Amino acid sequence: MKIPFARVACDGNELKYVQEVLASGWLTTAGRALEFERHFSEAVGARFACAVNSCTAALHLALEASGIGPGDKVVVPTLTFTATAEVIRYLGADPVFVDVDYRTGLLTPEILDEALTRQRGIKAVMVVHFGGQAAQMLAATENLKPENLKAEITQSPPVVLRSQLSGFRSQVPGILEVCRKHGVKVIEDAAHAFPTRHQGRMVGGFGDITCFSFYANKTITTGEGGMLVTDDEAVHRRAKTMRLHGINRDIWDRFTSATASWEYDVVAPGFKYNMPDINAAIGLAQLERAGAMRAGRQRCFEYYLKHLGGLDCVDLPVVQGSLDDHSCHLFWLVLKESAPITRNQFIELLGKAGIGTSVHYKPLHRMTYYRERYQLNEKCFPNAERHWRGCVSLPVYPGLSDEELAYIVVAVKRALAR
Ligand SMILES: Cc1ncc(COP(=O)(O)O)c(C=O)c1O
Repeated sequence: MKIPFARVACDGNELKYVQEVLASGWLTTAGRALEFERHFSEAVGARFACAVNSCTAALHLALEASGIGPGDKVVVPTLTFTATAEVIRYLGADPVFVDVDYRTGLLTPEILDEALTRQRGIKAVMVVHFGGQAAQMLAATENLKPENLKAEITQSPPVVLRSQLSGFRSQVPGILEVCRKHGVKVIEDAAHAFPTRHQGRMVGGFGDITCFSFYANKTITTGEGGMLVTDDEAVHRRAKTMRLHGINRDIWDRFTSATASWEYDVVAPGFKYNMPDINAAIGLAQLERAGAMRAGRQRCFEYYLKHLGGLDCVDLPVVQGSLDDHSCHLFWLVLKESAPITRNQFIELLGKAGIGTSVHYKPLHRMTYYRERYQLNEKCFPNAERHWRGCVSLPVYPGLSDEELAYIVVAVKRALAR
């Protein structure tokens, strides 16, 4: 059997919508991109959306629109893809790397609070919803009723309010509250987290800005692409301007309005980050099936959790809430020291059985550029280190058949039975 690590499913209206774009004669950013922005912002409950050609572009625009510049400091979890940190360097600012929770791979309010207390003057934090599970954006409120939850997030100061609410279980604040306390902006890297919910709300409606990826192996794809969403109109306007060379008019507006298309101004040295309509057309078709595809991935998660749960020599990812709220993007196992083989041997054995795997991630503190520039020491990141030493991601996609899932589980068990 050959089971690739990722398999793209474009079996809905993708072809039809792309053909419509080709027939329209307008291939770059226009009506389809606008439509995709509208549908996507509705899907995540944000006021504004700005479609771009990658999540990296969205993260860059997010920091730029937040006023991050040379010498500023931005907190980043070490367990992420380099894009989350590199955009900080694009602007001449510096990442401050922090550890994550071993069980979830997520940044926690406690880790963040400690970092912001230790180092003064941090301007922003990049919260990565690792693997598709939301970080603890709001306080742990399992016993709160939805109506109380609404009050909690709209009132200030929330600490006082929460203590007044009946049934409140934990005094640990969420990431948003920690950031409010320290006056720090929240930018969410939701490259793995569409559609993901946290305490009844979609990821995309929590921080100041949230960025999504539509890269080929993500939960929905446009081939290459990304989206920046925000409730802040000024941020949205700045991102739209900087997405296209710092020009003060959209291409679509230039070619459809009564004012001459050549009549535009350049108000800043912007970038070329716009999403073409061809890509947006694919995105619109993917969006139609985002819920069904998520359910298909949840099926894989449930299978792995059920059938690999009893293995002593591996740790499985901990799901904090309901699996229904998880985008189910990455399923990993971490080989413990007691495992009979190393992680790399395990990957090799699965490869020989025809099963594609991946590693998420070699943490950034181990990457030459960051390690040398910021003199990072592995001892400062014990949880990410423990994760990295044993982690392997297994195939997860809606088209994975029961037979394939069973084959993977048998191969995993066989490899670890040596
Ligand atoms: C956590 C994370 N952030 C950002 C990115 C960058 O996304 P893109 O390839 O759309 O720029 C990725 C891509 O793999 C990612 O995994």
